[in-house]
Parts: sequence; C-alpha cells; structure tokens
Amino acid sequence: MKTVNIGIIGGGLMGREAASAFGRWFVLNDFPVNVALKAVCDLNEAVLSWYQAIPTVALLTTNYKELLAREDIDIVYVALPHNLHKEYYLEVLAAGKDLLAEKPFGIDLDAAITIQEEAKRLGRFVRCSSEMPFLPGPQRVMQEVLSGKLGQIIEIKAGFLHSSDLDPAKPINWKRQNKFCGEIGVMGDLGMHVLHVPLRLGWMPEMVHAQLQKIITERPDGKGGKAVCDTWNNASLHTQVEIGGNRVPMTLEMKRMAAGETNTWYIEVLGTRGGVRYSTKDTKTLWIFTCQDEQFWQRTDLGFKGMVFPTITGGIFEPGFPDCFMQMLAAYVVEREGALNGRFGCVTPEEAVASHRIFNAALKSFTNNTVEEINYHAQT
Ligand SMILES: NC(=O)c1ccc[n+]([C@@H]2O[C@H](COP(=O)([O-])OP(=O)(O)OC[C@H]3O[C@@H](n4cnc5c(N)ncnc54)[C@H](O)[C@@H]3O)[C@@H](O)[C@H]2O)c1
Repeated sequence: MKTVNIGIIGGGLMGREAASAFGRWFVLNDFPVNVALKAVCDLNEAVLSWYQAIPTVALLTTNYKELLAREDIDIVYVALPHNLHKEYYLEVLAAGKDLLAEKPFGIDLDAAITIQEEAKRLGRFVRCSSEMPFLPGPQRVMQEVLSGKLGQIIEIKAGFLHSSDLDPAKPINWKRQNKFCGEIGVMGDLGMHVLHVPLRLGWMPEMVHAQLQKIITERPDGKGGKAVCDTWNNASLHTQVEIGGNRVPMTLEMKRMAAGETNTWYIEVLGTRGGVRYSTKDTKTLWIFTCQDEQFWQRTDLGFKGMVFPTITGGIFEPGFPDCFMQMLAAYVVEREGALNGRFGCVTPEEAVASHRIFNAALKSFTNNTVEEINYHAQT
C-alpha cells in the first residue's frame, strides 16, 4: 500500500490533534493510502518534546526550512497563528509540497486570494481544515436537503458556539489580538466551520447585515498586567441566499462568548414539507421534521453509522471531535490521490476565499450599519 509522508508546522493544539489521528490511521477500514508523520516544526522546544513518543517522526526542529528541505515529505499541515498563514503556506507550496491549511486560510481576503492563486499556479493540492461536517449528523443533513424532501426551503440557521472567553480572568493569547488573529476576529476563528456545509450546498450569501460584538476588551497579560483584547468576540450574520429562485434568509452565528457552549456546531434547515436539525451538543442525534397530516419532529440516534470513511468502531458508538478530525484528514489524503469518488471533501481554496468575502462584507456592514452585497469576483 502507498504511504504518504506528512510534516507539521505548528505543533500546538491542532498539530497534536493531527498527530494523534495519523497515529491511529489503522482504524480506517480498507483505506487505500497509509500515512506516516515524519517531521514536526515548532518554535517551542517543550511543544516539540511531546512528539518524541511518535516512532515515525524522524525530525523535530525549530527551523521550518529544514522540514521543507526534506525530499521525503509529501504533505505539510500548517497549524500556525493567522498572521503567519500567508508566508508559511506560500513557502510550503514553493518547496513543492501539498498543503493542508488551517482556517481562516490567511489573515484576510488579500492573503487568501494570494494563497489560492499561488496554489493554482503551482498545481499543488491544497485544502483547508473544517472537520465538523464529517460527522454522520451533518452528512445526513446534506442528504436530507439534497433529497428534495424538505420542499421549498424557508430558512437556514447555522452556527459555531464557544464559551471559553466568558471568563474575564483568562489570560490573553494570540487568538484574542487582531494583529495575530485578524481584523475579522471570531469570524476567522469559527466562520469557516459554519460556512462549509452551506457553501458546499451552493448557498452563497448574496447580502449580509452583521452584528459584531467586542465584549471583553482587556485581559490579564499573564505577567501581572493587562493587555488589550481587540478581537470581535461574537458575530451574527443575517444573510440571504437564493435557492430555487427564492430568496431565503440564512443566519450564521459565530460566538466565543455563548453561555454554556463548549464547541457546539449546529445547522437547521426548514422547508415547506420538512426540516432537519443537527447539533454537536447531542453528537449522535439527528432531528427530522415531517409536515403531513400532523407535524412532528423525529429523533434518530445515528451513532457511528454514516461516517464518510468507515472505521472499525461499532455502529452504535458515539463519535467525537478526534473522529471527525481524522475523517477530514482521510478525505484530504484520498482526494489528493484522486479517489474521493463523490464523497464529501475538505474545504477548497475557492470556498475559503468565499468565506473571507462574506466576513469582509460583514465587517463593512457593521461599520456602516448597512446591508452589504457580497461580490464573489472582486480582486479584494
Ligand atoms: N480545525 C479546528 O477545529 C481548529 C481548532 C483550533 C485552531 N485551529 C486553527 O489552527 C491554527 C493553529 O491554532 P492552534 O489552536 O493549534 O494554535 P496554538 O497556539 O495551540 O499552536 C500554534 C503553535 O505554533 C507555534 N509557532 C508559532 N509561531 C511559529 C513559527 N514561526 N514557526 C513554528 N512554530 C510556530 C507555537 O509555538 C504553537 O505551538 C490556527 O489557524 C487556528 O485557527 C483550527
């Protein structure tokens, strides 16, 4: 079986998640490609030391150029702060490697367009991370929508909710500062996750009215003082999409300060004849609405059935974050081989750029208190 070799630049939270998924690749049933994590780069030696336990890793380095110079590395997963995306993604491409990028795919629209164009020019395989839709629930939501059973779509709601920022005593980090995270703030952090399914279903918002909130503007700096926290904490985007010739409202929520929510991704689609709803708050549960003589919501426990790439895990067991993250990596690897065969794939560079266009229009909308049209062809 073919093995592709992986390098990781940025070994923090997501670097470790990726390494853990590569390390248990054998749970994928009859998967056509094997993977081996060969090299990891991080500036922090303490972070790097965690990777010493992984037998396939041949290089741990603080110098990413050393990783990119290795001829045996095929794919590089880059999980760095957003201000570094453009520079590092472009270097990965220039080194002749394929790229699994992290969202938001550049700190702003300009960066995202540059990365997209360079990937195209060099003919490299590039996708962007967004794992939640690989769970069986979101997969079923898409099937229900595509089946036409919902009738005429009336409205769509989708969101991604965190509450980790509710604690004002939580020290500042790069994710809470515009210079590292980007002017788009929480939209850059959570927005790609929210838009993956709508964009894949062809629901490109035509216009947006946004409500953005900076709720906590100062945090402990971790050194006994205070630091400015200037990112948007919460964003509610009221958009409009055209579906079957009808204008349909689509509400997108991205919140770092949503009471009681740890990592809640949800989507609800309602139509004239039916509806469908899924939330990771109830990871294995799918809700289907039927509108006949009586109207009723039906609850189905999905378990592991319906994973995009079958695994050894029993069908009645509940999936979680490490599972969907691994499914996303599997999708990347198999699509790179040209063997996705109609299955659900990772976010494309075009979708990532489209998300930035939506976030840009949302920033404008909030600043001017206007409804902004979204132009998917403008150069910036
Ligand atoms: N897909 C998801 O669900 C998900 C979740 C969280 C974060 N992310 C994304 O992943 C990326 C990384 O986020 P994270 O939470 O892993 O951050 P993190 O802060 O936990 O990790 C980043 C790592 O990069 C290292 N680093 C910083 N500058 C470096 C440099 N110049 N060279 C090498 N290493 C350097 C840091 O030492 C740190 O270990 C971001 O784009 C973020 O938006 C995605």
